[in-house]
Amino acid sequence: MAAATAEDTLREVSKEVKQYTFTPEPIPRLSCTDPKAEKLIANEQPVILTDTDLVKSALHWNLDYLGSNIGEGTYTVYSSSNHKFLYFDEKKMSYVPGFVPPTKHMDLTFDEFKSKVNSSSPGSERYYLQQALNDSVDQRIVMDFMGFNWNWIMEQQKKFKWGQLTSNLLLIGMDGVITPAHYDEQQNFFAQIQGFKRFLLFEPSQFECLYPYPIFHPHDRQSQVDFDNPDFKRFPKFRDVKGHEAIVGPGDVLYLPVYWWHQVESVPNRGVTVSVNFWYKSAPTEKVVYPLKPQQKVAMMRNIEKMITDALNDADEVPPFLRTMVLGRYT
Ligand code: SIN
Ligand code: FE
Repeated sequence: MAAATAEDTLREVSKEVKQYTFTPEPIPRLSCTDPKAEKLIANEQPVILTDTDLVKSALHWNLDYLGSNIGEGTYTVYSSSNHKFLYFDEKKMSYVPGFVPPTKHMDLTFDEFKSKVNSSSPGSERYYLQQALNDSVDQRIVMDFMGFNWNWIMEQQKKFKWGQLTSNLLLIGMDGVITPAHYDEQQNFFAQIQGFKRFLLFEPSQFECLYPYPIFHPHDRQSQVDFDNPDFKRFPKFRDVKGHEAIVGPGDVLYLPVYWWHQVESVPNRGVTVSVNFWYKSAPTEKVVYPLKPQQKVAMMRNIEKMITDALNDADEVPPFLRTMVLGRYT
């Protein structure tokens, strides 16, 4: 029998993923030399790039190799009693009295993390390592890191006039872990190294259907909707949400545009996932063109919401203030 190609495997994986209340459209999968890919990125549309060789020098990064070579430092690890790892900003916790963090943050050596992952059983605590790559790692990992396709990274930055590369985050997740839907304020090239991740993606215009938490809340930028059990009474527009889907395997790079919503799922029963993302600042706006794009409006709403929250100096005063301003006048 002929060996399965990457495409065959992806087709199999796509049958194993969870179904939700919406049916996502596939994101195109293209060579990075395809002019269509360049056009998509220039228009801030997601695309899976198959042949960037961005992390070719790290495709052997698995738990054993990293355990033997990453060094003695400690790494940021989150644990969750279920498969979800909803992000929260520790700095904003004091604004919401009684806020209970949904995950636990701990600093573990790589060996401690590895033994927790290896000794886990179904239904027990899950672990997700999320650590910025810095110079505290040992030499072999630094060599692999230096072998990333930095030329390509710099070329993209120049071509799309993006700002500086701000950080690389190393993500090592157990089977089935999920980062619930949220948006980020930076451009991202997401490089998959081991295992398969499924992205559910939503355009910035889907803001209304996804109901982000208020800006002062520790879950700022995260959707309030539980995709597994949507509360349509509170979030009726979630019924109309339009989604896209991208499944990435080893060597694939997903362009994840700034302000695009994403839920990221490590495909169950396919082992540990290892990924690295490359975050860049967006291009500065050179000339304002009307009508404004949905992502520009989201940025504007954030600024206004922040100004009101800061000026009132009391998170509880924000909802009545906004109601007074809008209800019966703009509704
Ligand atoms: C993930 O891979 O779990 C999250 C990555 C991201 O949200 O940028
Ligand atoms: Fe993200």
